[in-house]
Amino acid sequence: MDAAGKEEISVEDEAVDKNVFRDCTKIAFYRRQKQQLLKKSTYRAVLDTVTTGQDSTRFQIVHEATKIPLMAEIYGIERNIFRLKINEEMPLKPRYEVPDVLTSKPSTVRLISCSGDSGNVVLADEKGDLKCHITAKPFKVDLVSGEEVVMSINSLSQLYFEHLQVPQKQRATKENQSASVDTAKENEDDLGLWEEKFGNFVDVKANGPASIGLDFSLHGFEHLYGIPQHAESHQLKNTSDGDAYRLYNLDVYGYKIHDKMGIYGSIPYLLAHKLGKTVGIFWLNASETLVEINTEPAVEYTLTQVGPAAAKQKIRCRTDVHWMSESGIIDVFLLAGPTPSDVFRQYSQLTGTQAMPPLFSLGYHQCRWNYEDEQDVKAVDAGFDEHDIPYDVMWLDIEHTEGKRYFTWDKKRFPNPKRMQELLRSKKRKLVVISDPHIKTDPDYSVYAKAKEQGFFVKTREGADFEGICWPGLSSYLDFTNPKVREWYAGLFAFSAYQGSTDILFIWNDMNEPSVFRGPEQTMQKNAVHHGNWEHRELHNIYGFYQQMATAEGLIQRSKGKERPFVLTRSFFAGSQKYGAVWTGDNTADWSYLKISIPMLLTLSITGISFCGADVGGFIGNPEAELLVRWYQAGAYQPFFRGHATMNTKRREPWLFGEEHTQLIREAIRERYTLLPYWYSLFYHAHVASQPVMRPLWVEFPDDLQTFGVEDEYMLGSALLVHPVTEPKATEVDVFLPGSDEVWYDSKTFAHWEGGRTVKIPVALDTIPVFQRGGTVVPIKTTVGKSTGWMTHSPYGLRVALSTKGSAVGELYLDDGHSFQYLHQKQFLHRKFSFCSSVLNNSCADKRGHYPSKCVVEQILVLGLGKEPSSVTTHSSDGKDQPVAFTYCAQASTLRLEKLSLDIGADWEVHIM
Ligand code: NOJ
Repeated sequence: MDAAGKEEISVEDEAVDKNVFRDCTKIAFYRRQKQQLLKKSTYRAVLDTVTTGQDSTRFQIVHEATKIPLMAEIYGIERNIFRLKINEEMPLKPRYEVPDVLTSKPSTVRLISCSGDSGNVVLADEKGDLKCHITAKPFKVDLVSGEEVVMSINSLSQLYFEHLQVPQKQRATKENQSASVDTAKENEDDLGLWEEKFGNFVDVKANGPASIGLDFSLHGFEHLYGIPQHAESHQLKNTSDGDAYRLYNLDVYGYKIHDKMGIYGSIPYLLAHKLGKTVGIFWLNASETLVEINTEPAVEYTLTQVGPAAAKQKIRCRTDVHWMSESGIIDVFLLAGPTPSDVFRQYSQLTGTQAMPPLFSLGYHQCRWNYEDEQDVKAVDAGFDEHDIPYDVMWLDIEHTEGKRYFTWDKKRFPNPKRMQELLRSKKRKLVVISDPHIKTDPDYSVYAKAKEQGFFVKTREGADFEGICWPGLSSYLDFTNPKVREWYAGLFAFSAYQGSTDILFIWNDMNEPSVFRGPEQTMQKNAVHHGNWEHRELHNIYGFYQQMATAEGLIQRSKGKERPFVLTRSFFAGSQKYGAVWTGDNTADWSYLKISIPMLLTLSITGISFCGADVGGFIGNPEAELLVRWYQAGAYQPFFRGHATMNTKRREPWLFGEEHTQLIREAIRERYTLLPYWYSLFYHAHVASQPVMRPLWVEFPDDLQTFGVEDEYMLGSALLVHPVTEPKATEVDVFLPGSDEVWYDSKTFAHWEGGRTVKIPVALDTIPVFQRGGTVVPIKTTVGKSTGWMTHSPYGLRVALSTKGSAVGELYLDDGHSFQYLHQKQFLHRKFSFCSSVLNNSCADKRGHYPSKCVVEQILVLGLGKEPSSVTTHSSDGKDQPVAFTYCAQASTLRLEKLSLDIGADWEVHIM
């Protein structure tokens, strides 16, 4: 390591050129697969080897040219899921199978072989509505639902499997290291079999080539979504004329937008949607993965001219998806839907649901690299109060530590961290500090010394501790794939271990792709070695997942299992939703990044990560006031809401842009706090029922083709449609209001429109286009406090937006906002509101829950009430009736009830006569 490596790293070191990263042509396993597939070799299923066991059906498939067999296994899993595993029958040594992502062993359903002749086998579950047709020659699997072939696997013969071989050195004896071997070696070099070069980096591969690939044809589908993380559109694009989507977790400072290169996290899971059906493909592999997508449009052929009419044959459109991974096995789950919500449930059945966040984390977060010292924190905190802007969390970046040694405090800047936290606590606010996976190589730093002593760092292929450069200079990286390391790391968050920490301190995991400055593509060498002797290449994409898992566990443990953790991570994998929140990394203060935040968050949301957000204002550069305002307005309606900025940017606390802009930002943040009961209820729904908080329109309107490509607006739950303004100097926006039998209400003016049309909405700088769908009830708080903690007892309001039929339904979930008592003691309230035949009813939605809330519903607003009532009365469950004063506005068709005092947790009715 050079001398510079020992010094602390400045921010400039992180700013990297995009040429540092590889495109597909520079990836050897991609070149190998492409070259081999040109040969059109096929596999054959040996159907007389079919055996059906308790869990799965197994059979051999053989490569027609090499005759080498593979073992295929098909599992039927509860709720319309099939799993296909393909592995070598007898690999030289075990191949990596991703552990810890599936929440439990999937409950299988017994498959029965129900028909078939010598050339094929049909497997079905006992209900028989979903079948798996296996064709022997060439090997193909069709997923059939009813009479329809939904998906075909290997119909393009792209099944590819590199068998583990005896290492080259052992194969070549001295005598046969002749000229011909040298030539062969040159070819091998180009194909990167045992060694792959990229710039000055050489990847020497202990196991040689081990890549895998398989194709899936989705019949009748042309809309695909998923496989984050890319700074790309929500709907996946055809890759036939460019790069494949790459899934390889990388630290890409100021990533380029509309690009398919891999950035911080990877979820190898996509959804396909068409009228009447949604399906999912979850490719459980944690090595570098490439996904090609190719849509063949529908065609109509004229066959013959019979009489006056031409006989026509229609061929349905089809999308082919080709997955390729560098190593591991083929382990793929086919989620058969048939609705978007079914697919969400199927995926969460495998990987878990969104963790229930503590309420404070749904408030506004204030971050900057860096808040300089305790004084600075105090001043910024006071700034929010002075300007009457609510906020919940102050964040400290890497400079708060002693020389980037996580779990320590810089003594000059933060001499008394507990005092600082007590100040925040007195304001009912929290603190989040950063904790990265790299550990400064300093024998006097106890975290380093203890990890070293116990052998807890990732190793080099020679067996030494891996050392790379990151913020502290030379560092080693904790091997979070080792359960012992996770346990030990979790223990570092104990109050007794983490000096200066209190129970209002929560954690941010960053740089966990992992980021290794000056490493190949700014990450760890693929041949570094992890617990169990696995090469880093096998599990690269799951490294960050494990750090967040251990951190969340640490926060739970420090509270003796009582409190919900909050952990933000930059890197993630399938299942990360169980451990906290994700953000989209180092974006730029530019309108295009504000705009792309919407599709990026929609994609995360439908792949399980409901708790996601983008840095408000843009991390890199200095937003002008208008952009900052628009970003706050958009961020207020995105799940994780945090302002953040890099070093060397101008300060941008909300009050630094003149009174007019302060007022606009205050308004946006206050709207967020007003809607917290709705947000919290949506998160509960994500937690228990797997439905995303932020939803693309196609999820809510799966039968409306016009919604399938929309990504400049979205739904929050099923009640609110949000269309953030993402253009400078906008005076109007085109808002598509879906559903021809729907009615939509502007949430500010209460103007209403019939659905199924695009309307031009005039916008000023204070407009956030938000529409409430007719037929819904949205719970709000009627007064906003300094933070969520100040609002516990503040009253509720209900916004009732009537459907064309004059009805509406909605829900409210509430609990203590921070503990696990909702789970263990069922301390929660889950209420249901329904409006029907002029009666609004508050009833219990879940009788298991109890929570002694003193809150009342103080205000009810009914939108879309066609005629003025003659009287309004409340009826309580003990039979008491009370007349209520009301205001009716005929022009806007709104009814307003104020100064009510109806218990939120009691059954009551409001009669509108
Ligand atoms: C990179 C992160 O993406 C950014 O948010 C953070 O401020 C810096 N690392 C410094 O920790």
